[in-house]
Amino acid sequence: MYIYSMGHYFPENILDNSFFDRLDIESSAGWIKDRVGIETRRSVLTQEQVMDLRHGRTTREQLKAAGAIESIASMCEKSWQVAKARSTDVKDPIDTVIGGTSIPDDDIPSNGCVISNRIGLEQVRAFDVNSACSTFVVQCHVMRGLVASGMTKEGAIFCAERYTTRIDYSDRRNSILFGDGAIAALVSSKNRPGSLKLIDSLVESSPSGWEHIHLPDGKFFHQNGAQVQKFAITKTIAAAQDILIRNQLKTSDAHWFIGHQANYRMLTSAMEKMGVPSSRHLYNVTDLGNQGAAGAPSVLSQNWDRYKTGDYIVVAVVGAGLTWGSLLLQKQ
Ligand SMILES: CC(C)(COP(=O)(O)OP(=O)(O)OC[C@H]1O[C@@H](n2cnc3c(N)ncnc32)[C@H](O)[C@@H]1OP(=O)(O)O)[C@@H](O)C(=O)NCCC(=O)NCCS
Repeated sequence: MYIYSMGHYFPENILDNSFFDRLDIESSAGWIKDRVGIETRRSVLTQEQVMDLRHGRTTREQLKAAGAIESIASMCEKSWQVAKARSTDVKDPIDTVIGGTSIPDDDIPSNGCVISNRIGLEQVRAFDVNSACSTFVVQCHVMRGLVASGMTKEGAIFCAERYTTRIDYSDRRNSILFGDGAIAALVSSKNRPGSLKLIDSLVESSPSGWEHIHLPDGKFFHQNGAQVQKFAITKTIAAAQDILIRNQLKTSDAHWFIGHQANYRMLTSAMEKMGVPSSRHLYNVTDLGNQGAAGAPSVLSQNWDRYKTGDYIVVAVVGAGLTWGSLLLQKQ
């Protein structure tokens, strides 16, 4: 399977660390920068709407009913347009669409179907794969199987996240972590020039840990931060190293590393432990916060023009479930 184009989209509204100072929750911009490394995030909500949520002047349901929350399909359409504009080769009909999000608009139908309809695809098998922050790696793993079996010739993968709409803005611990974003990845069984070849994919889970990261129906995001941080560092390293080892590669053979964009300090700690120099570490969490499933693939998309023929790229993610996984890609 080859990824031959990618696109990303981030909403315009910016929430910087000083905005959280004004929420009156004893948040400290210095603490955030020091402990999490995030400086800004994007949101489908304006600062005024977040302020209203914080002070109980509105609810997510009211904002949604008023059409104030951008839909998953709209976000995906914008990333799809970027991916299409980047490729001169979107000619063959797409036969498979995999959507993915932790925060859907509706429980039924699948986002894959709504996104396909929005971008005008009809003769497709459209469905969702949801593995929280690990979603993109799992989507690629599933698509890889469909392509290898011959069932899929041309496909599209979408991730869109809006965690900023499911946060308790009176909680300084969790409210400062998240940003919204979306990605599209166009995939093919054919090797088009400049594609990223998916050489290998790895998907693992430890279901006994599912309660550590939880977004209960109708409630707010919750995680056991310190415990999850240990898991995240350990499994980022394991996922990256396992996929390299089973492909007879060393850490120094990989040109680019992309981890789950949850926390910059956590990422640099994992990279240092693996011996990855900062020049090979790609990230956007500092500017965009934790975008859940869209985080790591949005980094992959933002850096699309940097990869040179032969470069190996390792994408290692961790997420709720608990889940972790990785992709080994090579620029053609
Ligand atoms: C969430 C996370 C940033 C919290 O960092 P931490 O160092 O564990 O910090 P803690 O939550 O223990 O908080 C330490 C102190 O800082 C305080 N604090 C938290 N947020 C703060 C903020 N915005 N401003 C000021 N102080 C803050 C806490 O209230 C706590 O103070 P207290 O002991 O007086 O209650 C960190 O644990 C993390 O990144 N975990 C991994 C997340 C992850 O990978 N998730 C993946 C799935 S999405």
